[in-house]
Amino acid sequence: TTVEWEAESYDMGGHDTYMHKEISEQPEAVDRVLRGRIDDRFSTVHLGGLNLDAREARGIRRVKILGCGTSYHAGLIGAGLIESLARIPADAEPASEFRYRNPVVDPDTLYIAVSQSGETYDVLAAVQELKRKGARVLGVVNVVGSAIAREADGGTYVHAGPEVCVVSTKCFTNTVVAFALLALHLGRIRDLSVSEGKRIIAGLRRLPAQITEILESEADIKKLAEEYAGAQSMMFIGRVRGYPVALEASLKLKEISYIHAEAYPASELKHGPLALIEPALPTVAIVPDDDLLEKNRAALEEIKARSGRILAVAHREQEKADHTIVVPKNENELDPILMGIPLQLFAYHTALAMGRDIDKPRNLAKSVTVE
Ligand code: AGP
Repeated sequence: TTVEWEAESYDMGGHDTYMHKEISEQPEAVDRVLRGRIDDRFSTVHLGGLNLDAREARGIRRVKILGCGTSYHAGLIGAGLIESLARIPADAEPASEFRYRNPVVDPDTLYIAVSQSGETYDVLAAVQELKRKGARVLGVVNVVGSAIAREADGGTYVHAGPEVCVVSTKCFTNTVVAFALLALHLGRIRDLSVSEGKRIIAGLRRLPAQITEILESEADIKKLAEEYAGAQSMMFIGRVRGYPVALEASLKLKEISYIHAEAYPASELKHGPLALIEPALPTVAIVPDDDLLEKNRAALEEIKARSGRILAVAHREQEKADHTIVVPKNENELDPILMGIPLQLFAYHTALAMGRDIDKPRNLAKSVTVE
């Protein structure tokens, strides 16, 4: 069975599709997840429903994040945020894999289940298995009162508002922001300094206006999408923080355009996928202005040397790329949030140019409540 949204009950608000509406709502959605949570006095954030006191937070030795599809990708970025801000070893795994491998459940690990709907069966089953083995599980969930939210020991809602389109956009962004809040909260209980806390808070506050700025470049992104819409297949690459952005952008493109897309860490290109590069296989490259910029540029050179076409998402024009979508710079840790957004629009306009049914892609349901 699948949970059907009563799509008719939500107003399209002048947009042609729910996907477009939901992409456009992101500045307000992000504003909502931040609202009332920032504490400038201690340069931290408060998350009401965590049920995790400071002593318990200090005792966490590892964080394991579980989700499916887009929520798994948000979890990968979340793991990176928790490692860098709270310095707790963290990783993410598809809940659908985790539950079938008889995982070792460790009492000092904090498990976090991520789900937009809060009803995805693979995630729910993983949570139930963890609870049965005595683990502490938090939920990062959008739908209030959903099964996963009820089953978890505590957690935080991502406040994205109703998401009707089968493909997730605003909920992905809000989930990553919720992880940034959680990472900051854990970081400030542990070893993140006041000035570092302030730096991240200032970055979080800049997000809504920067998202608006990205949305204003939609006409240019549409032109690019129309140019690449003829491709049979596309490669997406990113490094460390950029890799989950590549994964998510490639999933979005697959889901609604049906163009085959692969995502690879840029560092892995030379270990195999470089053999695929030729003029007919365009690459979308995530190229933030951070400590890995030169490494990422070297990957662009490798692709160019094989006559591959490149669309870069970067903080400034990339000369090796055929096209660059320039996005506003935030703090390095928060850049993935912004870099994913133009690629939602890219997938959208590619699918539109190909005449796809964007809100209801073939073979997919909004909520997968079966095994
Ligand atoms: C997202 O575009 C997908 N339709 C899908 O991967 C989705 O994210 C996944 O099924 C998990 O759903 P959930 O977040 O409701 O648990």
